Order: sequence, then structure tokens, then C-alpha cells
Amino acid sequence: MNEQPGGPYPDLPYPDLMDRVVNLAKRRGFIFPSAEIYGGFRSTYDYGPLGVLMLRNVKDAWWRAMVQLRDDVVGIDAAILSSPKIWEASGHLANFTDPLVDCRHCHERWRADKIEGSCPNCGSTDLTEPRAFNLMFKTYAGPVEEDATVAYLRPETAQGMFVNFMNVLTTTRKKPPFGIAQVGKSFRNEITPQNFVFRTREFEQMEMEYFVPPDEADTWFHYWLDERMAWYLGLGIPEGKLRLRHHEADELSHYSAATADVEFHFPWGWDELEGIANRTDFDLKAHAEHSGERLEYFDQASGERYVPYVIEPAAGATRTMMAFLLAAYDEDEIGGERRTVLHLDPRLAPYQAAVLPLSKNDALVPLSREVLGLLQPVAVCDFDVTQSIGRRYRRQDEVGTPYCVTVDFESLEDRAVTVRDRDTTEQVRVPIDRVAEELAGRLRR
Ligand code: GAP
Repeated sequence: MNEQPGGPYPDLPYPDLMDRVVNLAKRRGFIFPSAEIYGGFRSTYDYGPLGVLMLRNVKDAWWRAMVQLRDDVVGIDAAILSSPKIWEASGHLANFTDPLVDCRHCHERWRADKIEGSCPNCGSTDLTEPRAFNLMFKTYAGPVEEDATVAYLRPETAQGMFVNFMNVLTTTRKKPPFGIAQVGKSFRNEITPQNFVFRTREFEQMEMEYFVPPDEADTWFHYWLDERMAWYLGLGIPEGKLRLRHHEADELSHYSAATADVEFHFPWGWDELEGIANRTDFDLKAHAEHSGERLEYFDQASGERYVPYVIEPAAGATRTMMAFLLAAYDEDEIGGERRTVLHLDPRLAPYQAAVLPLSKNDALVPLSREVLGLLQPVAVCDFDVTQSIGRRYRRQDEVGTPYCVTVDFESLEDRAVTVRDRDTTEQVRVPIDRVAEELAGRLRR
């Protein structure tokens, strides 16, 4: 994590952006602190009605780019609880540790590499010697709690792809270069979860393992750096808030020959959104050795047999959702009235449209429901009849809904509705029988 000279977000009128986004997320049903009625549970979060829509959109956008629009990547969904032999082979049992220190004064625990000699809580310098703390959550599979039944919650989705390498190869008949993608929950017993959903103990990852001939690894590493940067930019992260940072040799994980992080300019400075690594043949070789199975590719045409290298773009879905919220947050003035607006890409916004009857009038509501029925097949829609129309526009702007469709008294006469654009607030009149087509067209852009 690098602090920017001049402080974070010098270009923004609200230096407390993080508080505003956390507040909005809670107030509008994106993200709630978990178990709130019991006083919460440190750094765990529940995704509310809007959060679940947006998080799904983030994952769908990733899946679309990484799997659907390609013919060289397939998906899997591997078990979260699986054989502990996986973690022995991968090196996680031995290496997946953080250096932990205890403050002898206030008994808080810290990552030794994240503090500078004194306890950030009470300032005491009376700290224990660092000791290695394994980040994997340990549990027992079955009713007997003994060494033989120890299992771990996966700390990354990646290993599910490596252990299924031969299954995927033989069932899909793919040949390198090809990839296996997966989206799902991972768990790490982080010593200091922090910064809202940036670092939590339960989170979602979006990872892809791309298997390539060893001599092509460097080319594909750079290819995926470009692809992944383009994905974030294409979904609306401004160029000035995104950068690539190459790891120094002493920073590389035990499996990596090269790693670069896609970094986002968070309110506390530049920090990681995604790691892209050349994992070499480390994982396939390790699993081959530990399982006794051959994990190789045999090229029938050339008679060549080799262990592919792996290029891995590994992103966090929950962390990325937070970055999209931070990047989209804005406050401006419309017609002399201040509003909060999320300039989210329509593909990420929880609702793509809101249908708003001008009033609760008996005749307007049934017509509005008819419009809603026409739009629901092409867009996720909200339907809101409460409060003044101005207030309802503000409410939709605040959660990033790109289009409001208003049904007014004239609609009863001309069977047309008003479509309002969130960013420009421009309004156009569209016949009801063309409104679904109009909206679908706008959302495709
Ligand atoms: N398979 C490689 C791997 O897991 P990583 O850099 O440890 O690499 C990849 O994790 C991404 O997962 C990170 O860039 C981040 O977006 C997300 N991530 C990791 N730990 C996280 C945590 N505790 N909370 C939220 N997201 C996390």
C-alpha cells in the first residue's frame, strides 16, 4: 500500500469519500454489517437487496469477458471443502502465513509487516516476537474432531482448477493455450481485516488459470495484463485511478516467476484489486508429485509431452465491487438542487431501470405495471410509487439507476412514457409499445 503525496483523493471535494460510500451502502441496502442485531461480528458483511444485484453484475461482467466471449476458456465450480492434501501440495500449509505480533499492553494482535514497532491501538512498544500465523480456516469433516478429519476452507479458488486440470482437458478436448475460470467464496483468517469489504475473512474471488506452452508464458503474461486493465477501464474506472505495479523479486509468492498487481487509487492510497501472476509449472508439478498422477499435456500432432505454465489473473469480486462504488460516487447540482449520484456503468448498476407512476392515481398504477411487465424481460427494474417524483429521481440517482421511466396522465391518452437519463437528466418521450426495445438498445451501447 503506497500513500500518495498530497493525500488521497486531492482531486475530490469530499475527502471523507469512504465514509460517504459506507454510509450509502448501508442506508440503501447494498452492504450491511453482519449480525448487526447482535452487535455485529468483526469485519463481516451481508449483501442486501441492491448489493446482491450489483455483486452479481460484477461477477457476470467478469464471466462474460473471461468465458462467454472467448472460445479458449471454460468454467468450473469446485468444492470449498476438499482434501487437505491439496493445501499440502500447493504449499499453503507451510507458506500461507502472516507474521503475527501481540501487544502485551492491550492484547490486540497485528501483522508485524503492517505496523512500525508500536501498537496502533495503544501506542505501546511492548510487542511479542513475530510468529508465523497460518491464514487458513481449519475445521473437521464429520463428527469426530481428530487429526485425520482436519479440513480447511479454501483460501483461494485457484487450486480447484489445478486439481481438475486433467478432468477438464479430457472432457473438453482443449489444448494449450486454454483457461479454466471460477468464481466463488474464499476464506482467510486475516489478522487485521479492514477498510470495509477491502479485506475481509470471507470474500469472493474471480480467478482464471490460463495453461500455456512454457516458452509462451511471458507473451501471455503481458497479454493478460492488457486484457485485465482494459476490463476495469471498460466498466468505468477512470484511467487516473488505475495502474499496474510490477512486484519486486523479494515480493513474489513462492510459486511465481512474475507478478503485477492491478491497483486502484483507494481513499487511503494505491492498493491491490487483482494480481496477475506467471505461476510457472509449480502447481501442476506439485500436485503431480503429491498425487502420483500425471498432470501434463500430450500433443498428439507433434508427439510432444509437457507440463504447461500457468498465467493467473486473480481478482476479488467483493473488493472490485467496492472500487466500482468508490469510482462512481459523485455529488452534483441539478436545477439548483443537490443530489448524490452513482455514475455506475449500466451493466453494474443494481437496477437498470425504475418505473415511476407520476402519482398513486388508480388509473396510472395499472398502466405503470403494464410498462413494468414489458421492461422486466430486458432489465432489472425497480417500481416506486411513494413520495414526489423529484424525490424518487434522487433516490434512483443515488443507487445508480441509469434510466427512470415515468408514467404520467398524458400516458393515459397517448400511450407514451418519459425516459430520463441519470447522468444528463435528459428526458425523451417514447411510445409504450417501443419502450422495451428503446431500453434494450440503450443498455446494449
Ligand atoms: N490465487 C491467487 C490469489 O489468491 P491473491 O492476490 O491472494 O491471489 C487475489 O488474491 C485477489 O483476491 C486479490 O487481488 C483481492 O482482490 C482478493 N482478495 C484476497 N484476499 C482478500 C480479502 N481478505 N478480502 C477481500 N478480497 C481479497
